[in-house]
Amino acid sequence: MAGSGHASLRNSENVLLSVRDLVVEFPISRKERVHAVSGVSFDVAEGETLGIVGESGCGKSTVARAIVQLNKITSGVVEYAGTDLAQLEGEDLRRVRPELQMIFQDPISSLNPRRRIRDVITEGLSIWNEGTGSWTQERIDELMNAVGIDPKFGDRRPHQFSGGQCQRIGIARALALDPKVLICDEPVSALDVSVQAQVLNIIEDMKVRYGLTILFISHDLSVVKNVSDRIIVMYLGKICEIGDAETIYGSPRHPYTRALLASIPEPAPTVDPSEGNIIGELPSPIHPPQGCRFNTRCPHATEICFSVEPTVNAVDGNDHFVACHHPVEVGVSLPA
Ligand SMILES: Nc1ncnc2c1ncn2[C@@H]1O[C@H](COP(=O)(O)OP(=O)(O)O)[C@@H](O)[C@H]1O
Ligand SMILES: [Mg+2]
Repeated sequence: MAGSGHASLRNSENVLLSVRDLVVEFPISRKERVHAVSGVSFDVAEGETLGIVGESGCGKSTVARAIVQLNKITSGVVEYAGTDLAQLEGEDLRRVRPELQMIFQDPISSLNPRRRIRDVITEGLSIWNEGTGSWTQERIDELMNAVGIDPKFGDRRPHQFSGGQCQRIGIARALALDPKVLICDEPVSALDVSVQAQVLNIIEDMKVRYGLTILFISHDLSVVKNVSDRIIVMYLGKICEIGDAETIYGSPRHPYTRALLASIPEPAPTVDPSEGNIIGELPSPIHPPQGCRFNTRCPHATEICFSVEPTVNAVDGNDHFVACHHPVEVGVSLPA
């Protein structure tokens, strides 16, 4: 796919999921629309964990929901294993859809409170496979053991479990469908810090055990940087920066990435704490700023930033891409 004009590509041969020029808008009145996602392109290679980070409201969940066809795509393409998902209907969609599963932020409310967890875990089988799923009791027990829930509690209902346990059950429910791609939308954001690491470990274990490809979404860069191979930084419906996790942490070029990195508990050594002080609030996605969408808050903004929208351009090699007219210069490291 090289040469297609998109800088956000990874030159990789095993691309499993490819998002191109994704636009999702929500009409809210006859004249106004929420510009939730405005032209986002990226690839996810088979077996990788791609993180998406950005503050609340920047469009992360909308990207996730558009990929699994829960949000209608305004324009653009979501290609999974060579097939444009938006073009699939009926039986074709039913066959592919189980391969992309999501887990959500609020583990307790995402589980049906009236069902026993054994039935919660297998409910997707009846939705997507019309009860023809081949999960035997042993396989369900194996799955429960894998996520650390004793199968002897299978008859209990969700409210009898803690938030962390409910998230494990949510993971088991997603895995029951034998997915290839697991989309984790703020999977630990509602959990106590002490429980977060356990759930992240389960996700990592499941990735290895079941050969998953993961899209990991969080507003919290300190979480994303630890679990991701590569990271996308989003701001107000657009991509600011894409790179390997080490690159994003070690040589961030976009002022917004740097602001996020200056605000986490262990700030990156390459950023100054003062870079975390970005002014004002996220502008309304109903009337996003002209030019660069970050211009109202950017300490480096000049005239061009208010008139010309920056494209996503390659910098420094290593699959590092930045959408900024004035990418911050970072120290040149010596070749190893
Ligand atoms: N169904 C919807 N109708 C109208 N606006 C929506 C809808 N879903 C999301 N939005 C808006 O789209 C923007 C992006 O939302 P979202 O993708 O949930 O962001 P994030 O997950 O990064 O917090 C927000 O302004 C949000 O209010
Ligand atoms: Mg969200």
